[in-house]
Order: sequence, then C-alpha cells, then structure tokens
Amino acid sequence: MSTARIIDGKLIAEGLREDVAAAVARMSRDHGVTPGLAVVLVGDNPASEVYVRNKDRQTRAAGMTSIEMKLPATTSERELLALVHELNRREDVDGILVQLPLPPHIDSGRVIEAIDPAKDVDGFHPINAGRLATGQPALVPCTPLGCIILAKSVQPDLTGLDAVVIGRSNIVGKPVARLLLGENCTVTVAHSKSRALPEIAARADLLIAAIGQPEFVRADWIKPGAIVIDVGINRVPGEGGKHRLVGDVHFEDARHVAGAITPVPGGVGPMTIACLLRNTLTAAAARRGIALAL
Ligand code: GUN
Repeated sequence: MSTARIIDGKLIAEGLREDVAAAVARMSRDHGVTPGLAVVLVGDNPASEVYVRNKDRQTRAAGMTSIEMKLPATTSERELLALVHELNRREDVDGILVQLPLPPHIDSGRVIEAIDPAKDVDGFHPINAGRLATGQPALVPCTPLGCIILAKSVQPDLTGLDAVVIGRSNIVGKPVARLLLGENCTVTVAHSKSRALPEIAARADLLIAAIGQPEFVRADWIKPGAIVIDVGINRVPGEGGKHRLVGDVHFEDARHVAGAITPVPGGVGPMTIACLLRNTLTAAAARRGIALAL
C-alpha cells in the first residue's frame, strides 16, 4: 500500500518565521523601524491564553515588538472599542489582533470593523475580505494563507487543479476558496448542508477540510494521490482518560490514499502564527511605504 508524503507544517512554519525575522532585521537596519504587533485578550479562556502566549513569544523571537493587552471578562464593548481606537492611532503599532472568541456581551463584528484595515493582520475586516474577494492587495486571514503555502510546498503551481473546500466560515472556508481561485484552481465550496459530500470530495485534486468535526472525512472520500490539507483541531477522548488531538480527516486511513497530507498536530496549526508574523511585517512595510523583499 502506498503512503502519502507527510507535509511538515512545523518545519515549513519555522522556515517562514526565519524569513520574517531576516526581513525584520533588514527593515530595522535600513529604515530604523521595528514592526509592532498588539494582541488584545478579553477574559480568561484557557485556549486563548495559550495562543496569546505563543504569539507573544514568537513575535519577540522574530525581532518585532509584542504589545500584549489583557482585559477582564467584564470589559464593556465601549471600553474595548476605545482601546482599538487608541491602537489605531499609535505609531508603534503596525498590527492589531483581537483574540476571538470575545465574551458574549461584546459584538465581535463591531470590534473587527473598528480596527484600521491597514493594521488588520487577521484579515477579518470587511474591507480586507472585500479586497481579497475582488483580487486586490489585502491582508489575508492567517490560517487560509498557511493552507496555500502548505499546498504549494507539494505542488508550487496549483493552476487547473480541482480544489474542494469543506467548510464555509469567514475565518477559513470562504477566504481559502478565494485564495485558491487566485491560484487558478477550479473551486468547489461544500459544507454541512451539501448533498453527496463524499462524491464532491472525491473529485478533489486538492482537498481542504475545515469543518470542525473529528475525523469526519474518510479515506474513501479521497481521490488517490490528492493533496489533503486538514485545518481541524479537535480534542477527543484518548487512552487512560487523556485527550488527544485529531483533525477533520481520518489521518491513519487517509494517508494510504492521499498523495500528500498534513498531520494534526504539526500541519496547519503552526502556520497560523507564522503567517500572522508575515502579515505584521507586510502591514508595517505598507503603512510606512517601505518596499519588502520576502
Ligand atoms: N482565535 C483562534 N484563532 C484565532 C485567530 O486566528 N485570530 C483571532 N483573532 N482569534 C483567534
């Protein structure tokens, strides 16, 4: 039985972070500019705290300034909006990320729309979503960008491929579909209400699974030789009362059918922060009129 090439997201993310760090060092040397990333965390969601800690560490390791703002869960929407406006004005802040999910009394759409689109390193602002949708230069959401980089690590030119995206969220499904169109793929977006999901998936030369359901995509949904990018990170009960992480694809079976596949963990996950650092560098260069050679 053939076995897929395992796409090493950890290694590829490391390489991307090194490239960003080198570009940051050049920017600092040639222009006296150190890019700054502000991360805002409201409340004490444990998963969010882990993400924010990793972002802080990796931002500093890339030579950028990390500004961490932790606010209590009782923070009002008005207070959070005031903080976003202050960060929009700050000259030393190139990127602003408000960690999601926000407490339920805060309207996250309103907060995202308050961020200056030029500093929107998550690429969630409707201006950036609209620019991506119309093929204009934009800050692009980090996880979708990571998916494209991983797919291109296997096949540098994706032109003409039949790409199927399962999932239609604003954070992954829709933006990754738009990026794939930009790469000249024929793109199908399927989702939980799609009929005949296995048949749709089986047409894919490039399959992106972003459903949020553990091991939902089975081996017999996969076209032999396809590139499979698994965005899911699901905690399921493991042995001895412990938890283990699995993706949206049944990895152990799928690896015998796919041509290349991302593991979970160690696939798409590490790419997200690496792409965030890249977006922060891009935003710093664009806002300050500096040409970037990445
Ligand atoms: N929460 C989990 N992932 C993300 C992300 O990429 N951006 C933001 N803002 N919040 C998140």
